[in-house]
Amino acid sequence: MTRRTRIAGLGHYLPERLVTNQELEGLMDTSDAWIQERTGIKERHFTADGETCTDMAAQAAKAAIADAGWTTDDVQFVIFATLAPDLFFPGNGVLLQHALGLGEVGAMDIRNQCTGFVYGLSAADGYIRMGTFDRILLVGSERQSPALRLTTEGRDTAVLFGDGAGAMCLEVTDGEANGHVMGHRLHSNGKYARELSVQKPGAANRPWLTKEMIDDGLTNIVMNGREVFRHAITKFPAVILEVLGDHGCKPDDVDLIIPHQANQRITEAVRQRLRLPEEKVYSNIARHGNTTAASIPIAFCEAVQEGRVKRGDLVCLASFGSGFTWAASLLRF
Ligand SMILES: CC(C)(COP(=O)(O)OP(=O)(O)OC[C@H]1O[C@@H](n2cnc3c(N)ncnc32)[C@H](O)[C@@H]1OP(=O)(O)O)[C@@H](O)C(=O)NCCC(=O)NCCS
Repeated sequence: MTRRTRIAGLGHYLPERLVTNQELEGLMDTSDAWIQERTGIKERHFTADGETCTDMAAQAAKAAIADAGWTTDDVQFVIFATLAPDLFFPGNGVLLQHALGLGEVGAMDIRNQCTGFVYGLSAADGYIRMGTFDRILLVGSERQSPALRLTTEGRDTAVLFGDGAGAMCLEVTDGEANGHVMGHRLHSNGKYARELSVQKPGAANRPWLTKEMIDDGLTNIVMNGREVFRHAITKFPAVILEVLGDHGCKPDDVDLIIPHQANQRITEAVRQRLRLPEEKVYSNIARHGNTTAASIPIAFCEAVQEGRVKRGDLVCLASFGSGFTWAASLLRF
């Protein structure tokens, strides 16, 4: 048997509460026109009080498990990507293992922010190809709203991010004749670690967290938007071309590119650089904002539901984000 990985099921979850640009206008000095022009975002979802990252992940996971025709007994391993864990430690993987009532299966956490889902997919694919596991649950979930400063001071990031979760059930398949994950390219450059980051709490200091750190704004999201933008529009197309090249493919061959939903202007720049028509690059950022590690599985799930991608299609997932990290996966769905 030639062990390969196929996507058996997808699921996603978005919190009920919709936050429009107009609502943000009432909280800070911003405008619907500014947000739409610079980012393409019209609205995003925020969790209710008490609704955690793990709660959202569990909803998305249940939908993916049902879509795959699995039961929770089929899950042999959990991979959880998030930048917004419920606890500083342990990670959300074990919380999801418990929330879903799984057996004492392994649970691993991925901390690669916007690129977390693609990194997680590459790890899952490796485990399945090696024969370590036959069935893995991969989740990206983000509860970012509590970290956003919904004030004029925090407006540069507050308007970008939203909450949500997406999940994928991955299982072993025999050979490459049917749908299968083909390969991945993963990159990082920590020189830019602080260009998009939350500095504290962190064990670089003793103690980890002080009132001064909070007062000095070190627990806030810091983003050098221009630097992120500049790198994103070159690294995104480069890593897509790398993974396509590995498999003798060209951009034209791809049925759908599902990029991390960072910003419509970034997605548009990537599309133009790859000379692709609009219908070949998926976008739902207008409705959900940037949901970091959750954005790709939410987008994939919606693309399937909307009939934008079907079994047998060649799909490329790609991401760029904090780290900086960037990565792409190519798969036959
Ligand atoms: C964040 C981003 C939209 C800002 O757009 P920009 O064209 O670079 O805008 P600037 O940062 O130059 O700011 C322009 C002005 O708008 C202001 N501004 C910032 N946020 C604002 C907001 N929400 N509403 C209104 N004005 C805002 C700035 O204060 C600045 O004002 P000034 O000229 O008086 O100083 C853009 O840099 C970007 O998309 N970067 C990538 C971010 C991203 O995708 N991050 C996630 C990666 S995974």
